[in-house]
Amino acid sequence: MQRARFLAGWVLLVVAMVALAACGSTTDSGGGDGAGGQAAGGAAGGLPKLAQKDSYTVCFPQTEENNPWRLAQTASIKEETSKRGWKLVYTNAAGSAAKQVADVQSCIAQKVDVIWLPPREEKPLATAVKQAKQAGIPVFLLDRNVDQSLAKAGEDYVAFIGSDFVEEGKRAAEWLVKETGGKANIIQLLGTSGASPANDRRKGFEDAIKGQSGMKVLASQDGDFNRDKGRQVMETLLRAHPDVDAVYAHNDEMAIGAIAALKAAGRKPGQDVTLVSIDGERAALEAIVDGELGASVECNPRFGPKAAETTLAYAAGQTIPPKIINPDQFFDASNAKENIAAAY
Ligand code: AHR
Repeated sequence: MQRARFLAGWVLLVVAMVALAACGSTTDSGGGDGAGGQAAGGAAGGLPKLAQKDSYTVCFPQTEENNPWRLAQTASIKEETSKRGWKLVYTNAAGSAAKQVADVQSCIAQKVDVIWLPPREEKPLATAVKQAKQAGIPVFLLDRNVDQSLAKAGEDYVAFIGSDFVEEGKRAAEWLVKETGGKANIIQLLGTSGASPANDRRKGFEDAIKGQSGMKVLASQDGDFNRDKGRQVMETLLRAHPDVDAVYAHNDEMAIGAIAALKAAGRKPGQDVTLVSIDGERAALEAIVDGELGASVECNPRFGPKAAETTLAYAAGQTIPPKIINPDQFFDASNAKENIAAAY
């Protein structure tokens, strides 16, 4: 009996040791140079390692290049990698999540060292993130996130670097409540359906106005973060809701499209309709100075330096937090003019 208890104790100890070893391991299966070479950094949880090297091959599969925010993001990545003498594999998915998945797969086949991915939509790109992990290539999510029930930071990808989109929606709502005295008939122009900024900016805004009985969302429709789609959607919604007196657009481009639609319909943006949006691009700051746009919550697109620093810290074996949140400013009539020169 005593011998049986002794044996059972040993079996338990061995099982616990094996489990502990599995938890702390990193994989370096497949992949190219990413896992090999000299001292390799890597977080716990089975993430691929990244060797410390003089130069890296970085994959940046961009979502689309149809607005100033995206162009500024790409420019920042190109500038940073070239400054460091790193090789950049850049692609443009032209607004197609399927193409972006294929672009990630092509980077995996090319055995890049690391992937900096802005996932166009939350669900389809989660699979591609997992494929990169399987191939031994660490992934950093830039600006947009993936569905957290499908892939997680510290397990499937290293970390998310970007803005707090829920907070952006909340800041836009708080400004609008103050500006309208808590009474507004709102049209909400949504970002790309299935994209994390669209989901989170909607949540942040709608949660923030929940307790305000005078703040009514008349309609919410997808404008795909695109200026002309924003204009078209606003044109249609304006016909259905002539009592609109406020617009919340998930990005500046759609707000600028909405301003055009309002003017075409004989309305006065900034006077009989109050607009608030997100990004802080140059055209938006100019619209604030012109009195047509009320405010814009900044969403900083300049990711290059932070992405490179975090990649190097990871290669050096430092612990990377699962979320690295960019600090963002807020632009309104009080500061738009002085920020135009530095805007994109
Ligand atoms: O993911 C960030 C959003 O994507 C920006 O607000 C928008 O302009 C871009 O297309």
